[in-house]
Amino acid sequence: MKRNANGRQSLRGRFITFEGSEGAGKSTQVSLLVQVLRRAGIVNPLATREPGGSAGAESIRRLLIGGEPGQWDGITDALLHCAARRDHLVRTIWPALAGGRWVVCDRFTDSTLAYQGSGQGVDIAQLRALVAIVAGDFAPDLTIILNLPPKVGLERAIARENLSHRLNGHDTAKSTRYEKMDFSFHLRLARALHAIAAAEPNRCVMVDATHDIPTVHAAVRRAVAERLGVDLFVQPQKEKGSQDHARRIKKSNTENVFPTASRGESGPSWPRSS
Ligand SMILES: Nc1ncnc2c1ncn2[C@@H]1O[C@H](COP(=O)(O)OP(=O)(O)OP(=O)(O)O)[C@@H](O)[C@H]1O
Ligand SMILES: [Mg+2]
Repeated sequence: MKRNANGRQSLRGRFITFEGSEGAGKSTQVSLLVQVLRRAGIVNPLATREPGGSAGAESIRRLLIGGEPGQWDGITDALLHCAARRDHLVRTIWPALAGGRWVVCDRFTDSTLAYQGSGQGVDIAQLRALVAIVAGDFAPDLTIILNLPPKVGLERAIARENLSHRLNGHDTAKSTRYEKMDFSFHLRLARALHAIAAAEPNRCVMVDATHDIPTVHAAVRRAVAERLGVDLFVQPQKEKGSQDHARRIKKSNTENVFPTASRGESGPSWPRSS
């Protein structure tokens, strides 16, 4: 039985994280994955994000994403992220997993290593020590790394912000602090994510995020199905009741999932994410 960083709680749900550079499609894919998990009979999966995901961590998020690139030095940045992560773990992620829920998180520890380590030059050993204080040896069951050239991701993010600001009646779009970092920063962090994927192939799956949203989503589904042994290729018209739902879940995962009635649900919509 798995235990969390403090060795106290047994964890029954699964923890999936998404990583990728700015605008790679993480929020979009988190939202779509949670929809298909629900349709596969997994009860009340939780979509959450970093920095954020709890009241305290959302307050810290506001400090982190606003302002100018040089507002915090790398270590301060890392400490703020780690404080937010600790609150997120204690208040949101660990209780949800202990209660049997699956948790899908938009960014986690790999972002700290890539952004503050490779991006902002903080010593990786120091960062790993900080991460261990915050989370112990707790790690995702699966990490999906969305692989997209940083230039394309930044263009997508800018287009998203322009649209959002037009819809809200503002003249100018507002980028986050990280989007404003110089381009070499974005190249370094993209390379760091590649290195993490190569170093930890059992935990990480790299998904090509250059394709359209449904194609990327299909690749995400395949990765989750293969790595975590859950059937996410359910045909809605074949859903007849809770027994069918239960059968769709492979035996190895029966302790993590519970049948639900989702008959008649339509396919996922493609959300505009923030
Ligand atoms: N595969 C895709 N093809 C084209 N556009 C996409 C794709 N995936 C997402 N988008 C769009 O690109 C923008 C950025 O996507 P999203 O917000 O999901 O990225 P993100 O990785 O969460 O960004 P951030 O790093 O800023 O949080 C959104 O407008 C989204 O609708
Ligand atoms: Mg996002």
